[in-house]
Order: sequence, then structure tokens, then C-alpha cells
Amino acid sequence: MGRVSGKVAIVTGGGSGIGRATCELFAREGAAVAVADIDEAAAKEVADGIVAAGGRALAVTVDVGSEESVAAMVATTVEAFGALNILFNNAADTSMHMMVNDGPVHTMDVDIWDHAMRVDLRGVMLGCKHAIPHMIAGGGGSIVNTSSNQSLAGDMSQTAYAAAKAGINTLSMSVATAYGRQGIRCNVVSPGLIWTPASQRACPQEIVDEIVKHSLVPRVGRPDDLAFTVLFLASDESSYITGHVIKVDGGQLAHLPHYAFMNESGMKTTHQE
Ligand SMILES: NC(=O)c1ccc[n+]([C@@H]2O[C@H](COP(=O)([O-])OP(=O)(O)OC[C@H]3O[C@@H](n4cnc5c(N)ncnc54)[C@H](O)[C@@H]3O)[C@@H](O)[C@H]2O)c1
Repeated sequence: MGRVSGKVAIVTGGGSGIGRATCELFAREGAAVAVADIDEAAAKEVADGIVAAGGRALAVTVDVGSEESVAAMVATTVEAFGALNILFNNAADTSMHMMVNDGPVHTMDVDIWDHAMRVDLRGVMLGCKHAIPHMIAGGGGSIVNTSSNQSLAGDMSQTAYAAAKAGINTLSMSVATAYGRQGIRCNVVSPGLIWTPASQRACPQEIVDEIVKHSLVPRVGRPDDLAFTVLFLASDESSYITGHVIKVDGGQLAHLPHYAFMNESGMKTTHQE
């Protein structure tokens, strides 16, 4: 018996990275999975792989920024599998175009700002909007949304992305509050640096090394680190947990800024003879 046996899940951004790992884990743990992605070929490859391994999956092409497209994603999933119990709103625009052009505010092009809000934040709201009526009809459900540590502390780039992700944290508490009595839980996972196609495209090795220096678990994260956390939050094992932002970051935000210097130099914060 799998940890999400008999449940139906949608995973947005399911064609790559964290979403892909979560689709594959959900399927191994007994869920029927809608692999939803704007990249049709990637969604199909993941869904085909799950089916070839004996699981249940369906590829759905979606643009999470479009209400019509999200409504169709939910309708297609419910039609195929008969219910909707789990929604993992994980898609964001991680393209190099966004990474390079989403800088500090004084040079911010409003089109970049609006696009980040459309895909990264509105996409999560639309997923919740269209999934919740089906979850209520089925007696409840679990929603997990992907935020980022950039929603919790300032950084030198991706200002619009960070603001959109911070919006997800608050949106999720509102969803958890509004629908808790109808059996719907809503939580957030906030990744640190996770080694996926997106971070591999964007992060030079010097930045990776620097981030690892500031991590209490001295490595970059793996897609499965997220997938196992999302599986727990999606399953009934976490039935008393709602409204949380859970950092999956190797301790990146758990310490004071001088940690890396102290660790490398061997110095202590209190004077010792
Ligand atoms: N990798 C990291 O270090 C990291 C850190 C913090 C947060 N995150 C977040 O984790 C999530 C997954 O990131 P990843 O690293 O796995 O990225 P990824 O690029 O490997 O996967 C993202 C997927 O989302 C899809 N996508 C993009 N725009 C879409 C749209 N409009 N509609 C539907 N699908 C769309 C892409 O096609 C892609 O398959 C994102 O929300 C990202 O912001 C990642």
C-alpha cells in the first residue's frame, strides 16, 4: 500500500526538475498523476515513463498563467481519474530570459514584473481556484505550493520572482484558513538551491560553492529532497499540518550571516582562552 494510494494528483511543472521527481514519487506511492506542463513533450515523456513502470499518469499541456488553460487541466484530470485529491502548484517561469532580465527595481521592465506575477503567482491562485470545488466535493484535499527562499530574504536579483513567491506564502495561508473546515489543507515548500535543469542553467560553479559554504547540510539539494517533503504534505500522514511554509534548504536560512566565516576560520562568537 503506497503512501498516497488511491489518490489523484496534479503536478504543475511536472515535466522537469522538482515537479518531475514528485510526479514519479507520487506514482510509485500509488497516486494517479496528471503531469501538467507548458512543455508538451516533457510532460509526455514523464507520463509515458510512469505508465511504462506500471503507474497511472496522464500528460496535460497547460499554461498556468491562463485561466482557461488551468480550468481545462483540472477538468481533464477529473474526467480521466474521477476525482482530485492533491494539487502541487510547482510551475514557475525559470527560463534564462526571466533570470537575466529580472533585476533590481530601478531597471525593472514592467513586462518582466507582470510576467512573473502572471505565471509564478497568478498560476498558483488559478490552480487553487479550479481545484478546490472538486476537493470540497470529494470531502477534502491537500494543496502544496512551491515558493522559494528568495521569498524569505533579500537577494541581488530576481526581484519580481521573489515578490511573486512571497505572494504564494500569504496566498497559501489564506487558502488554508478559508477552506480548512472543508477538509482542505494548504502548505508551502520553500526550496534553497536544488540541482535541477533550471539551477544548472543559471548558477555558475562559484555561486554553487558559495551557497554550499552557507549550508548546514554541505551539499546542494536534490529534486527528491523536495519530492519526499511534498509527498508527506500531500499524504494523510500530515493531516494536522496546514498553513506552513517549510524550508527545504539544508539550513541555508537557519543561521546568522557570519556562519560561513566562523566555520571556515574556526573562530567562535564568544572569546575563549
Ligand atoms: N531549483 C531551485 O534551486 C529552486 C529554488 C527555489 C525555488 N524553486 C522553484 O521550484 C519550482 C520548480 O523549479 P525547478 O528547478 O524544478 O525548475 P525546472 O525549470 O526544472 O522546471 C520548471 C517546469 O515548469 C514548467 N513551466 C514553466 N512555465 C510554465 C507555465 N506557464 N505553465 C506550466 N508549466 C510551466 C517548465 O516547462 C518546466 O518543466 C519552481 O517554482 C521554482 O521557482 C526552484
